[in-house]
Amino acid sequence: MDKEQKDFSKYFDFSDAKIVAEAEGKTTYRIKGRNVQINSRPTYKEGKRRGKEAVEVHYDFDIPEPMRKAGEGKLYHLTTYGCQMNEHDSETMRGLLEAMGYQPTEDRREADLILLNTCAIRENAEDRVFGELGHLKHLKTEKPSLLLGVCGCMSQEEAVVGRIMKTYPFVDLIFGTHNIHRLPELLRDAMFNKELVIEVWSMEGDIIENLPKKREGVKAWVNIMYGCDKFCTYCIVPYTRGKERSRRPEDILAEVRDLARKGFQEITLLGQNVNAYGKDFEDLDYRFGDLMDDIHKIDVPRVRFMTSHPRDFDDHLIEVLAKKGNLMEHIHLPVQSGSSDVLKKMSRKYNREQYLELVRKIRAAIPDVVLSTDIIVGFPGETDEQFEDTLSLVREVGFDSAYTFIYSPRAGTPAAGMEDTIPEETKKERLYRLNDTLNEFSRIGNERMKDQVVEVLVEGESKMNPDILSARTRSNKLVHFAGPKELIGKLVTVHITDPQTWLLKAELIEEAVLRHA
Ligand code: 5AD
Ligand code: SF4
Repeated sequence: MDKEQKDFSKYFDFSDAKIVAEAEGKTTYRIKGRNVQINSRPTYKEGKRRGKEAVEVHYDFDIPEPMRKAGEGKLYHLTTYGCQMNEHDSETMRGLLEAMGYQPTEDRREADLILLNTCAIRENAEDRVFGELGHLKHLKTEKPSLLLGVCGCMSQEEAVVGRIMKTYPFVDLIFGTHNIHRLPELLRDAMFNKELVIEVWSMEGDIIENLPKKREGVKAWVNIMYGCDKFCTYCIVPYTRGKERSRRPEDILAEVRDLARKGFQEITLLGQNVNAYGKDFEDLDYRFGDLMDDIHKIDVPRVRFMTSHPRDFDDHLIEVLAKKGNLMEHIHLPVQSGSSDVLKKMSRKYNREQYLELVRKIRAAIPDVVLSTDIIVGFPGETDEQFEDTLSLVREVGFDSAYTFIYSPRAGTPAAGMEDTIPEETKKERLYRLNDTLNEFSRIGNERMKDQVVEVLVEGESKMNPDILSARTRSNKLVHFAGPKELIGKLVTVHITDPQTWLLKAELIEEAVLRHA
């Protein structure tokens, strides 16, 4: 057994594995009566590595000839878990599949291909996927020709790949976040070889510019960078998404212009840490503030960004955001904790005071800015006092909304090795108290909007009531009002009549409809 097999055997028993074929970097093993083709597998050691080699940008992607019609007459079903980055990756996969002739279906029972694009951020996200895999087993038994693939962040984890091989042997394909452009070829291998195919590159891939994307609706996502170099001690993302790589400004600007021409009303720029944009350019002094300034000049109604790290939020960016226009006055600024000691253990590289100072600067430049955040409670060793610091920071900033989480240990991250003595009950209680405080501020923030007349982008029908339209303010607050369906996708003006904790009820202003119709 070679060293590589030994590492992998921590998670899967290779003791009776035999190599049955080796070609072009693909090794096929005979394991427990079936062939498993391993092109590459995830390793944390490599995932952590930050290579110095320059990232190459490719503009020549093409679907390989034999796969161009491979999906004709076939149906696919794709489920996405996790963040917007994953949602956007799914748009790329849909684009690739439809370019191969596949058609989408809502009904998994009639699908020829089922893909789960997974999230690894917390244990409960992973549990949902394993639960789903359990449900899919019977479909595979009923229809052996069905191809079942697992991709996304979970595929980047050594232990997950091992667990799938062991417990869910009916999975046909596992591929990673850097291997999306390889989907056509991987499907070919899985289709024709009838074996499990694994291809997960742990080291970051290059940037592939011209992948097809299937976008729908009025809002579009645009990647501006990939990966993360921050290594917060609780977080799995730097391992699952590789090192920071920025797309070239001219490619981003061309994509935004193209989306504007196609009529998209709102664009969200995506990156795990958008404020680090451009830091990796060796030949160019061009950062996120410069990019936003250039996008500000493009004729697209609304531009947002996700997610920023307080550490890299510089003055130039604040100055540019204060120009407003198509740059929305909403900033999602994850704080994670209000205690400088906890922030240090999290390796966030800012303390409470620095965060508050940044908030002051942003508010001074953009007085009507709406701030939202992410907060983790129950980080290993968090004391009652440190938790109180988080509550007091929440009160001091007065966030309009927040995503809150109980800390979840992630194998391979430094925090997973820290002693965690906080009882589960205490963690839950902290989460309830935090959410109560946040709800209070959310209501206060919403009440401030009573009787205001604001512009909203109509996104669709309300999920609860199809007679009600669902829209967003510039500050990303949810608005419900009665109006005709023709307004979907349009910017209209409404009068806020009844602000609540979670949404603003409003009335349409008639002349605004005429103006925008
Ligand atoms: N446990 C709980 N929450 C986490 N997040 C990231 N990693 C973890 C973890 N291990 C939260 C952070 C981050 C958001 C996307 O998810 O708050 O900002
Ligand atoms: Fe997104 Fe992170 Fe979840 Fe991956 S692990 S899907 S990057 S939130």
